[in-house]
Amino acid sequence: MNTSTIDHSPDLTIRKFLIDLENGFPRHWHSNHAFETQLYNALSFSFPAGEQAFIDSVRDCLPMLPADSRYDTLRATAKNFIAQEATHRRVHERYNAVLAEQGLVNHWQDWIPKRLAKFKAKGVHPMNFLATTVAYEHMTAVLADILFAHPVLLDKATPDMQALWRWHSSEESEHRSLAFDLYAALGGKYRNRIICYVIAIFWFVVETGAQTINNLWHDKTLLKPSTWWQFLIHEFHPTKGMFWLMTPLMLSFFSRNFHPWKNQSQTPAKAWLNANTGRWQAVGIGQ
Ligand SMILES: [Fe+2]
Ligand SMILES: [Fe+2]
Repeated sequence: MNTSTIDHSPDLTIRKFLIDLENGFPRHWHSNHAFETQLYNALSFSFPAGEQAFIDSVRDCLPMLPADSRYDTLRATAKNFIAQEATHRRVHERYNAVLAEQGLVNHWQDWIPKRLAKFKAKGVHPMNFLATTVAYEHMTAVLADILFAHPVLLDKATPDMQALWRWHSSEESEHRSLAFDLYAALGGKYRNRIICYVIAIFWFVVETGAQTINNLWHDKTLLKPSTWWQFLIHEFHPTKGMFWLMTPLMLSFFSRNFHPWKNQSQTPAKAWLNANTGRWQAVGIGQ
């Protein structure tokens, strides 16, 4: 049991994100581009099921912590992490309802529970589900960091959608270490963390690709040359290509000394939240 550094998360605020999705949003809300729009839409499709899996993995492992008061802060932060992820699920459920009205089909929501059920049937230990959450939480934090470091990546999206993705990013940044800290406090092994990370990256790439292609198919833009040009620019542009921006941050996870807050700061997320107080309402603060 590692008790030297237990909880590195700041006090997590539970926020209600203020957005009206009743009237929907444009079909190509991101830069008027099919590719970027359907890529982000694919990620949104994954969140209700994916973030529920993160919540479940944390809930399943929390009782393994000793009753010791040294873990009280970590336990309280875990509750707030669960509340933040639950809020994300609810907002993305409303977002995804608009996508369904636009004719898109959410396949990702079925892939996640099916895969989890298979692993559970094989008797995979709850700590390995937590390690998988640690892996996905690193990926969401990497995406958040990139969106804050390169605002140009979202600047041509509609204002409401910019706000939605930046709000979610700010909270992913804020709670980036909860799953990791819980895993470390429970004595989680480096080897298992890495195995689960490699598996998670594999499924993330396959499922992001498959759902994005399916979205583009239903959007009737899959076979347009402009869509594929947008893909190449988005992924491989020399200065703002996601592939180049993500790779070094993704590789940092392999370090034995990795911690989600290493070389990171709360400043970008806090700056966005402070500059956009009209977009959210605090409904619970800190412990
Ligand atoms: Fe989230
Ligand atoms: Fe998260």
